[in-house]
Amino acid sequence: MKRLLLKKTLESLQEEAFDEKHSLRRSIGPVNLVLLGIGVIIGAGIFVLTGQAAAQNAGPGIVLSFLLAAIACGFSGLCYAEFSSMIPIAGSAYTYAYATLGQFLAWIIGWDLILEYTLGATTVSIGWSGYFISFVKGLGINFPAALSGPPLGFDPVLHKWFLTGALFNLPAVALVAFITVILVLGIRESAALNAAVVFIKVAILFAFIGLGIHFIKPALWHPFIPKNSGQFGIFGVSGVLRGAGVIFFAYIGFDAVSTLAQEAKNPKRDMPIGILGSLFICTVLYVVVSLVLTGVVHYTKLNVPAPFAVALDAMKLYWFSPLLKVGAIAGLTSTVLVLLLGQSRIFFTMAKDRLLPHWASKVHPRFRTPYINTIITGVVTAAASAILPLGIVGEMVSIGTLLAFAIVCAGVLVLRRTHPEAKRVFKAPGGTATPVLGIISCFYLMAGLPAATWMRLVIWLVAGLFIYFAYGRRHASVHLATRASIKGKIIPAETEPLK
Ligand code: ALA
Repeated sequence: MKRLLLKKTLESLQEEAFDEKHSLRRSIGPVNLVLLGIGVIIGAGIFVLTGQAAAQNAGPGIVLSFLLAAIACGFSGLCYAEFSSMIPIAGSAYTYAYATLGQFLAWIIGWDLILEYTLGATTVSIGWSGYFISFVKGLGINFPAALSGPPLGFDPVLHKWFLTGALFNLPAVALVAFITVILVLGIRESAALNAAVVFIKVAILFAFIGLGIHFIKPALWHPFIPKNSGQFGIFGVSGVLRGAGVIFFAYIGFDAVSTLAQEAKNPKRDMPIGILGSLFICTVLYVVVSLVLTGVVHYTKLNVPAPFAVALDAMKLYWFSPLLKVGAIAGLTSTVLVLLLGQSRIFFTMAKDRLLPHWASKVHPRFRTPYINTIITGVVTAAASAILPLGIVGEMVSIGTLLAFAIVCAGVLVLRRTHPEAKRVFKAPGGTATPVLGIISCFYLMAGLPAATWMRLVIWLVAGLFIYFAYGRRHASVHLATRASIKGKIIPAETEPLK
């Protein structure tokens, strides 16, 4: 019975998705896909976390961490593309999982994606705040220290929390509030604006490389992988691995490209170009940028909210500093916007399926946006970014997203067995090896993250299970049964395109 429902759901979704008359317009070419990918990918990962991961985990070996993380992303990206091209309805891993793997796994993915999107937005807004404070300082304004950061910090070496002396992170809260208002009003980022922001982000990274290359002191790269401190993950080979788990964050967002399979002109060719192309360009950029960063300033000095500013000061390129900060501020703003937008659309779909309360799918009569869930997401993100330290949040985002990617790879494997005949607009090359290597590489990176981060992930998932069994399962099943009896078949949940 269960299998029948699963199949019907997949069939009806495919029927709807491949109905050319009612599908989205196929208008996006490979160049735009790559640009969209870069627009989401480049953010706090490179501008902020690189410094932390170099200073605390990998030293100049952060370059290798970037390569390791890119490999895991490559395998998962291909699986994501196959998964989404089977049911190219604009949406997220949650939507695909519901149609193919069933309600329970869909809930797990949806719950897990909160870590990627809401906590991702939290991390990037904390990073934004660091660049903002540094920028206004350059203008001679000393932002009050009490309102510049979280009240508690965490020392990963001593495993200790400490009082920072600050109250909360005001700029991060203000940014999230501003973006929430924009999202409620439904003002959309235009393609032109996205292209401009992408241009700015890439241009400042190129300028940083072009200028910095003249100031590199190769001695700063020795030892390339600093000796392990005696603790797993603090330098040495394990530090490179943990560094990869941490800066995996810098690649998050390429999965957004895969959700556009239905709008790609020629998905078979354009999806791998879009996903692998944006990943490749970002990997090259990240590797070169981190080589320059650790080549111009000693890695131990990079454990700050705005590491690029420290590097520019070390080069005495004071004139470039404000430009870089403005670029980083613009780039991080667009990343927060896309992440919060993605989260509100996932909640919207989950609420339509009744896995979350129905009011979370309520659309504003005038603005046509899911305003209630957007506001709640905004309030939670603002609160989290006010009081949480960057490192801890960033690691949670990485571990949660890695888990989601591993589930997606597993989903691809399962579907190739259970639905070998289903139409696949794009099939990941490499046969079974690609999803298997995807799962292994995701777990490999997860294995490098601290035990405390694992613990937090387990607590998060247990809380999710509790909510599912206490609320979601009952409501969603009643909802499905009602719809089935009305329509005579199980129909897909209404989905709204990620705008
Ligand atoms: N990859 C995005 C960033 O680094 C989420 O900010």
